[in-house]
Amino acid sequence: MKTIFMPRRQFLTLSAVGGLLLLTGQTKISFAQTRKEEKMPYNAKDYSKLIGMEGFSETLLKNHFTLYQGYVANTNKLVDTLAQMLKEGKTAAPEYAELKRRFGWEFDGMRLHEYYFENLGAKGAIDKSGKLAKKMVDAFGSYEEWEKDFKGVGAMRGIGWVTLYQDTASGNLFNCWINEHDGGHLVGCNPILILDVFEHAFMIDYGLKRADYITAFFKNIDWKAAEGRLK
Ligand SMILES: [Fe+2]
Repeated sequence: MKTIFMPRRQFLTLSAVGGLLLLTGQTKISFAQTRKEEKMPYNAKDYSKLIGMEGFSETLLKNHFTLYQGYVANTNKLVDTLAQMLKEGKTAAPEYAELKRRFGWEFDGMRLHEYYFENLGAKGAIDKSGKLAKKMVDAFGSYEEWEKDFKGVGAMRGIGWVTLYQDTASGNLFNCWINEHDGGHLVGCNPILILDVFEHAFMIDYGLKRADYITAFFKNIDWKAAEGRLK
């Protein structure tokens, strides 16, 4: 067990233990004790294996990974801050309400990037005899019609995400637009394929040519990963 001995009248701030600790006097801090009140942070995943994908420069991908790591860091920070405010009885404070609203934006930004990176990194077309392609035919008439619709959503003006959802109640598929990270989600639906259409996802390599980026995205879809998300 690690201990820290602080001299008298020295003040110590420890934000890493999930709150602000102000200590005075001869103080012994046990990390084993502080850990009881600390929530384990969520760790950003490593997607460096995607470097080298056709149509995605290393610079673009590394920038994108850094942005993703920022969402993870901010989600962790909000979890800690909101827990501390709850403990301090500050749930009626306007700051609490705003941070609660912010939480969905940061969390969804984190999780959507994970779905996106995890449905990339493979080669080859969808297996037309597989269960995902069959569901696309059920919902859209053909794979080609599904693709036309998905790309049509991707071409919409604005920043956000294209999401192929499966409704867990009916099993049906829907292509949807998620505004920013948190607007437009379908309740109870399961993300199957995620496409990031924020400008940071393509401008370094493609400028304003979003359609070319979406073509590159389609060349690298991991269809097995997408199909594995079906319920
Ligand atoms: Fe992104």
